[in-house]
Amino acid sequence: MNPTISRVGPFKIMGRLEVISLLVFLHFIHLAADSCSNTKCSSDAVPVRFPFYLEGNQSQSCGHPGFDLRCNNQGFTVLEPPYSGNFLVRSINYRTQQIQLYDSEDCLARRLLNFNLSDSPFLAASYFNYTFLSCQSQLLNSRFTYIACLSNTTTSVIATSSMTMSLVNSLCQIVTIFPVPASWKVNRYEGFTSQLKKDLKLVWDSPDCIKCESLEMVVNKLAVSL
Ligand SMILES: *[C@@H]1O[C@H](CO)[C@@H](O)[C@H](O)[C@H]1NC(C)=O
Ligand SMILES: *[C@@H]1O[C@H](CO)[C@@H](O)[C@H](O)[C@H]1NC(C)=O
Ligand SMILES: *[C@@H]1O[C@H](CO)[C@@H](O)[C@H](O)[C@H]1NC(C)=O
Ligand SMILES: *[C@@H]1O[C@H](CO)[C@@H](O)[C@H](O)[C@H]1NC(C)=O
Repeated sequence: MNPTISRVGPFKIMGRLEVISLLVFLHFIHLAADSCSNTKCSSDAVPVRFPFYLEGNQSQSCGHPGFDLRCNNQGFTVLEPPYSGNFLVRSINYRTQQIQLYDSEDCLARRLLNFNLSDSPFLAASYFNYTFLSCQSQLLNSRFTYIACLSNTTTSVIATSSMTMSLVNSLCQIVTIFPVPASWKVNRYEGFTSQLKKDLKLVWDSPDCIKCESLEMVVNKLAVSL
């Protein structure tokens, strides 16, 4: 027996004829799905497939609402949640349903200050309240990690998830406290974070594609064995 087929449990109990017609059926599904199959913005960009679709390249019916991506003119993949502006897509994990985003200007902290995932299918794994402080640069000691892209020669911006700020109150003013979508492990007692420089990771729950990803694998294997 073909080893590819024997690993696929349910087929064991079927007759040869049923197996063949199922294979033919799956083969046609696969062909029909071809106009929606993997596409990319450039040779080394992330592969785009269901539930995502590439606007201007694939039909909207290839994906789910809110999962539209597009290409910028440098061949990078762009996601634009309704109220948060453009992010570049670093990677998509279709199995764990995670998308990793970054800011084209390398200032994620600034982007997070105006971040709102309403009407988007994406969720943050968790949120942590970060306090942003604005400090006089010359008073800051070098052990403080400041957010370079929000700072200048006179004012340094720092952010912390820690509640104990007595030390800085004399040197710094609180700018804002807001919930940051955090994909990193936040240490409650951490000092001034450099985590806000990392990529932003979001997840999606719906559509739950664990099943279609395994169907895709089965179809691909069977197509090879046809
Ligand atoms: C979509 O992109 C692929 C290459 O990634 C290209 O072959 C195809 O022609 C494009 N289709 C449309 C409708 O632009
Ligand atoms: C996010 O944007 C929506 C739509 O504009 C608005 O209703 C909502 O209050 C915003 N949420 C936050 C936290 O700003
Ligand atoms: C952040 O702070 C606000 C206001 O104090 C509070 O309502 C909210 O629950 C906090 N969020 C988190 C994730 O701790
Ligand atoms: C530095 O940034 C602060 C706050 O954003 C601003 O008020 C100040 O004018 C800036 N200073 C310089 C020299 O750009």
